[in-house]
Amino acid sequence: MTATPGPRPLVHVVGARPNFVKAAPVIRALAAAGVDQRVIHTGQHYDEALSGVFFAELELPAPDLNLGVGSGSHARQTAALLVALEEAFEALRPALVIDYGDVNSTLAAALVAAKLHLPQAHVEAGLRSFDMSMPEEVNRRVADALADLCFATSADAVDNLRREGVPAERIHLVGNSMIDSLEVVRPRLDPAGARAAAGLPDGVYGVVTLHRPGNVDEPERTRALVDGLAGSAARVPLVFPVHPRGRAALEAAGLAGVPGLHLVEPLGYLAFLSLLAGAALAITDSGGVQEETTILGVPCLTVRPNTERPVTITHGTNRLVEPGELASAVEAALVAGQPAPMRPPLWDGHAGERITAVLVAWLRDREAASAS
Ligand code: UD1
Ligand code: UDP
Repeated sequence: MTATPGPRPLVHVVGARPNFVKAAPVIRALAAAGVDQRVIHTGQHYDEALSGVFFAELELPAPDLNLGVGSGSHARQTAALLVALEEAFEALRPALVIDYGDVNSTLAAALVAAKLHLPQAHVEAGLRSFDMSMPEEVNRRVADALADLCFATSADAVDNLRREGVPAERIHLVGNSMIDSLEVVRPRLDPAGARAAAGLPDGVYGVVTLHRPGNVDEPERTRALVDGLAGSAARVPLVFPVHPRGRAALEAAGLAGVPGLHLVEPLGYLAFLSLLAGAALAITDSGGVQEETTILGVPCLTVRPNTERPVTITHGTNRLVEPGELASAVEAALVAGQPAPMRPPLWDGHAGERITAVLVAWLRDREAASAS
């Protein structure tokens, strides 16, 4: 790729399922403000069900570049990302690189931008599980340390950044762009249709998603998890769109034979949120699902020892559980019924616009500085 002369665009780097959901509202708001922007899809996720369907359903423009890095070990995937992003940034000469969340594409974008001396912004900055065994914790700490602009979803994230010495002027509490996406599609959700399509009987049901290494890479933990799902599915039908990561491990632990547990392929955004909106509860280790259940008022049982999203506990429907507690936690959630939906401050569907306002001011200041 050769260098393009001319104006320097804002460049979004996205690569994995949750990135698309977080980036769409920012891209839309920047487009409405007339800002020149490009989208790089790293190709970390490539299946239609993990990638293409999100571009269609979130009405995202097709990526300007798809780097096609694909899967691999952390080292191989990150190395491929670094090489491909360096070439792409050298060609596009971004005025600012914007990365999202905590996936390997986020880490690579932050490292390459820093080494090329490109300004960078991190959307969803400051979340901390304080658990360095999670690849996401490593990725988000690096992205935050290198970001010129840190866009935080919650006050606890701002506190984390301040504690780590990030100067206040770099931090912007803007709310949660993943919730912007939820609010955009909410009127189109069809829980009854999604339930029928998933083959669930009438009546209450729960939704399961599990893919974190901590749950699907250790056979003993995975077996305990499948036992917990079996105890839960004995009480209420569960539908589980199985992420490709962990499918083999979960099946080896007996997932396929659990009565009452409906295994389906990963779902598109509208189908998944439709199911979630109609669910009596969710069992998950997903970051995004903890947030979405909070807004939808669906009790969320997060099968993890920690969460980087404590606001979903203090201002939401989330609760941390161990695999051995799952069945009793499901019972308790069903008995308690649906809590009133809660809304953490600024999770109001307008984070993309707030981010855009900061970016437009930043671009103006930068232009003024280079003119003087
Ligand atoms: C990644 C993120 C994780 C995020 C998740 C969202 C990292 C380190 N992890 O995890 O934080 O929660 O995305 O879903 O970035 N695969 C497919 N099809 C695809 C993509 C992947 O089958 O389109 C399979 C491959 O076997 C691959 C495995 O899934 O090896 C893992 O993919 P990868 O992108 O490395 O990590 P995720 O587990 O998806
Ligand atoms: N999601 C989806 N289909 C599914 C499972 C999840 O559309 O089958 C959506 C979910 O609504 C949320 C996002 O994917 O918006 C979360 O992605 P994931 O759980 O893969 O990543 P995490 O948030 O854990 O990083």
